[in-house]
Amino acid sequence: MIAKRTIENLDAAAVLGRRALVRVDFNVPIKDGKVTDDTRLRAAIPTIEDLKDRGARIVLLSHLGRPKGGPDPKYSLKPVVAALERLLGMPVAFIADPAAPAAVELTKQLPRGAVALVENTRFLPGEERNDVATARMLATLGDFYVNDAFGSAHRAHASTEAVAHLLKPAVAGLLMEKELEYLGGALTSPRRPFVAVLGGAKISGKIDVIRNLLPKVDRILIGGAMANTFFRAKGAATGASLVEEDRIAMAKELLERAGAKLALPTGGVIAPSLERAGENREAAWNAVPDGWAMYDIDAATERAFAGIVAGAKTVVWNGPMGVFETPPFDHGTVAVAKALAAATAAGATTVVGGGDSAAAIEQAGLAGKVSHVSTGGGASLEFLEGKVLPGVAALDDRTP
Ligand code: 3PG
Repeated sequence: MIAKRTIENLDAAAVLGRRALVRVDFNVPIKDGKVTDDTRLRAAIPTIEDLKDRGARIVLLSHLGRPKGGPDPKYSLKPVVAALERLLGMPVAFIADPAAPAAVELTKQLPRGAVALVENTRFLPGEERNDVATARMLATLGDFYVNDAFGSAHRAHASTEAVAHLLKPAVAGLLMEKELEYLGGALTSPRRPFVAVLGGAKISGKIDVIRNLLPKVDRILIGGAMANTFFRAKGAATGASLVEEDRIAMAKELLERAGAKLALPTGGVIAPSLERAGENREAAWNAVPDGWAMYDIDAATERAFAGIVAGAKTVVWNGPMGVFETPPFDHGTVAVAKALAAATAAGATTVVGGGDSAAAIEQAGLAGKVSHVSTGGGASLEFLEGKVLPGVAALDDRTP
């Protein structure tokens, strides 16, 4: 992986008094006009503070949700202003229309160290088309470009990709740098043993991750409903468990290729349905009765997985071990979260891919006990698949 220039590589004169156009990922949940989870806002604060301390005028760009067909008040970034002001302890200006001539003027009038937030970039028709004219318009709002939106780096959009070719220097922010350091470090130079823990409902969403990780890891532990497709590939009856029939052959091929590297659950927690969770009991992987479904890994698998994680020096975790939103089927996922926390305390580097596993470790109260929790859902998945993230590729390379 080619190292990218970061804001730390910019000298004082390149920052002082200059307008930093900073792409952040403020795609946060909002309810009744209030931000209900500010994790992604907090993650961007170090970059904003750094630029502020160095006297830049900071103009923030982000998308929010997936609005269709232009501006929609439901997807306005306006509610983020108050949450950001609280975190920064200072007023934040709001630019409702970045294409209006007044917008450029406002960015120029910002005092040094001041911050402005631009309305949802997806209100611009050219944003998702990676339109050059849109990027050119956005580029007028800054003197240099910073991408701190790891969570959006898998999107080639005007505010993440095209603009980075037009506004130079184009460098990574501190969050982007941290994400690439932890996720990239695990993939390119892991301390060994290197263990991957993969879960989630569908094998189809994780095939490319498994393929990319197999040659790199020492062990790969599989949990979540996707284990059922592997059980079927091994010839077991899986009752009413979720199985992707069209992926059974693929699962068979992965099992053959992985050999002893790949560990499946030896048993799970089953129930007749999620509604009848109270009737849950354990069953061996190949003994799920008709009409019952597997919703979590069993206690023996928890212990086995925790033991393997305990012996690792690098762990990457992506995807829950069961239906963690519905207790008691959160037990296996919490057990993995605890195993990662213990491994971290023992000196291992532990990285939690975003999305569901980030939510799960947060829910378990252990997010602060692992080395890094990614702010990217789709982005971390694509990174683990070995794909080039366009938002990263477009940034300036670091010269030796
Ligand atoms: C995310 O939440 O994963 C990112 O903000 C990207 O959002 P998107 O999937 O709507 O592009």
